[in-house]
Amino acid sequence: MNPFRYGKIVTGEFYCPRPEDIRLKNAFSGGRNVALIGRRRVGKSSSIHNVVSAMRPRHTLVYFDFYQVRGVDDMVQRMLRALPSQTFDWLRDFARGLTRLRPKLELDPTTGTPSIGIGSEAVLDEQTLEDLLIQLGKMRNTVIAFDEFQDVAIMKTGEGVLARMRSVIQQQLDSLYVFSGSSRKMMTALFENSTQPFFQAAEKLEIGPIPTKKFTNWIVKRFQTRTIHKETAASIVEEFEGIPGDIQRFCAALWDVSLPGKPINAAEHLPLAKDYVLESHSSTYNNIFYRYTVKQRQVLIALAKLGTKSPHSSEFLKKAAVSSQVSQKAIKRLLSDAILSRDEDGLFFDDQFFAAWIRRMHP
Ligand SMILES: Nc1ncnc2c1ncn2[C@@H]1O[C@H](COP(=O)(O)OP(=O)(O)OP(=O)(O)O)[C@@H](O)[C@H]1O
Ligand SMILES: [Mg+2]
Repeated sequence: MNPFRYGKIVTGEFYCPRPEDIRLKNAFSGGRNVALIGRRRVGKSSSIHNVVSAMRPRHTLVYFDFYQVRGVDDMVQRMLRALPSQTFDWLRDFARGLTRLRPKLELDPTTGTPSIGIGSEAVLDEQTLEDLLIQLGKMRNTVIAFDEFQDVAIMKTGEGVLARMRSVIQQQLDSLYVFSGSSRKMMTALFENSTQPFFQAAEKLEIGPIPTKKFTNWIVKRFQTRTIHKETAASIVEEFEGIPGDIQRFCAALWDVSLPGKPINAAEHLPLAKDYVLESHSSTYNNIFYRYTVKQRQVLIALAKLGTKSPHSSEFLKKAAVSSQVSQKAIKRLLSDAILSRDEDGLFFDDQFFAAWIRRMHP
């Protein structure tokens, strides 16, 4: 079985313990809420799951994902679906506080699992969300996670919703909350700007790349009898900048292109693994690429080939063969589509493999 997993939350042996876990755990032990900030695929969601699962049985995790949430009704529905599975009696008590939902307890016909159904006259508004938060706050020893929290703020009604959430949450002295998000700019603004409802509502914790040495040792162990040289493993960690999602994706491919019981040969297997990743994503990448106009694609190619550090230089504009205005507009669009991201070091490709695919297609 392939010892590497990517694309969803990893736990147990698929998870490499990291320094941030300790800081997260310490915050929880000290009764502090946390704003967890880190770029995509850096391991925010996995860290939350692993830290809280190590706090079991005393604590349980209630985990809500607000990725691209569309409005308050969507929030409420997601939260209801993600309630931890509990006994019928527990759920009945919980539902009593949600009168606006006209709740009906339902039993899954095959598994017998109870859940809260929404009645036809249900109102899914800010007051309902507040009721739901109040009920959650009554649960003992829980860590409540709001993942992709910045997406709540960008909803049309975001500001009002946040204010409402904050006023309930700040009265819940016994619950622990973690708010996580990948947009550093937005998350920082939410928790550090004095005009924002969540100002100082949580301790900020940045989650970065997994340290090379730690991750290298972990990878070496995961390859077991196929044996990989420490230097080879370290070169992979460095090439993908310690971003575990990308590294696991690459290592999974490396496993697939190598043979059981045989050592990994860097010169032979690394290029094969890269081909493997690019080929397996080629139709996805193709679709993404041709979503853009000719000029936007020229900018994409120039970014992939020259790097993303100086997209306003004359060399860059010459390579892309577009005006500075066109380039800026294209970059804006690529940022809003999350093809590119930006941090204090400047622009970068959200998915390094996509950049590599572009270079391969346009040598
Ligand atoms: N500590 C870890 N050890 C090993 N692999 C990890 C670890 N954390 C994350 N990963 C890898 O990274 C992938 C993405 O992890 P996760 O979904 O937790 O990141 P995220 O920061 O929440 O990403 P997103 O911003 O896309 O939600 C996982 O599928 C897994 O392959
Ligand atoms: Mg996540």
